[in-house]
Amino acid sequence: MERMRTVVRGVGHNLPSQVVTNFDLSKFMDTSDDWIVERTGIRERRFVEPGTTTTDLALPAIQMACSRAGVTPQDCDMIIGATLSPDFFFPGIGTVLQNKLGMAHVPALDVRAQCSGLIYGLATADAYIRAGFAKRILLVCSEVQSPILERTNRGRDMAVLFGDGAGALIVEAQACAGGEAPSAKNNVRGVIDSIMGSDGSGAQLLFLKAPGSVVPGFMTQAAIDAGDIHPKMDGRVVFKNAVTRMVEAASNLLERNGISPSELDLVLPHQANLRINEAVREKLGVSEDRVFNNIQKYGNTTAATIPICMSEATEQGKLKEGQLVMTLAFGAGFTWGCNLIRW
Ligand code: UT7
Repeated sequence: MERMRTVVRGVGHNLPSQVVTNFDLSKFMDTSDDWIVERTGIRERRFVEPGTTTTDLALPAIQMACSRAGVTPQDCDMIIGATLSPDFFFPGIGTVLQNKLGMAHVPALDVRAQCSGLIYGLATADAYIRAGFAKRILLVCSEVQSPILERTNRGRDMAVLFGDGAGALIVEAQACAGGEAPSAKNNVRGVIDSIMGSDGSGAQLLFLKAPGSVVPGFMTQAAIDAGDIHPKMDGRVVFKNAVTRMVEAASNLLERNGISPSELDLVLPHQANLRINEAVREKLGVSEDRVFNNIQKYGNTTAATIPICMSEATEQGKLKEGQLVMTLAFGAGFTWGCNLIRW
């Protein structure tokens, strides 16, 4: 069998039009623009109108990715969804999108890696493509999180952080000419390497408890009253773990591919907190102009942050074919990881 590589052919994104500023949130809870900007870097985020689902939000992002790749969803032979906020408790968004997009009866699966959704999704797509199981995969990362945020004083630590958004990638199998796979040392386009990790001892340090099988019948009035239907986090512990794990994963990825941080053209980190990304950047020794951030405008859109960054960086001429690019994320699970890509 011919050796295959995974090339990102097109990326798209979609954000709801409703802008919610820090000042808007301060009308519902004791918070301020100063606190949110100083602790997180976030100035505003986008919230969907009531009734918009996660797959609704994803459709324009998919359309944009397809048009940039010059393909249609029907040209894809697999769909991978990544979200923590699916339309239904089950099934995942993969099958819902398969139907909405009028795709053939292709395999559809969801990865549940939260903020690491793009990393896990791309690594999974790459593995399927290299194994010869798929030729063109639609990878969709979409989140509608605003309805699960508790916009009161009790929920203010989480409510100020998150937003809604979607991103999509078309990734395609291409033959490795002469058997030469993409590497940090050649100019062959494609996914070079990925690292993924997890530590379930942190599962309840960033999680949404109900609905879930730990709750009798998955949901009780007591769970609702206790606020278990809203996400909870131990922010300080998550912050420290995020910095440690992202630096560790990125360092391992660079080392095993024989490159120094200065050889990276662009780093696309998950957007959870500007201070986290700044700490990681400093520890890795990457210059400021090589890290793309947009958390200021959108907050944390969980699985969607990195594809939105990819799509915007493309539009701004910062992400270009041939560049050596690293993605990097940490999130609930805990999960973390990074991809190295010759764009
Ligand atoms: O995407 C998944 C991964 N997520 C992350 O990586 C997020 C990681 N964590 C963080 O980004 C930060 O820990 C936060 C931004 C969530 C919080 O920042 P912090 O500097 O760790 O603040 P803190 O939680 O230690 O809280 C400091 C103070 C507390 O008051 P006291 O105890 O010092 O009196 C909080 O009650 O700030 C208070 N506080 C707020 N004040 C105004 C918490 N939330 C708010 C708020 N507005 N929204």
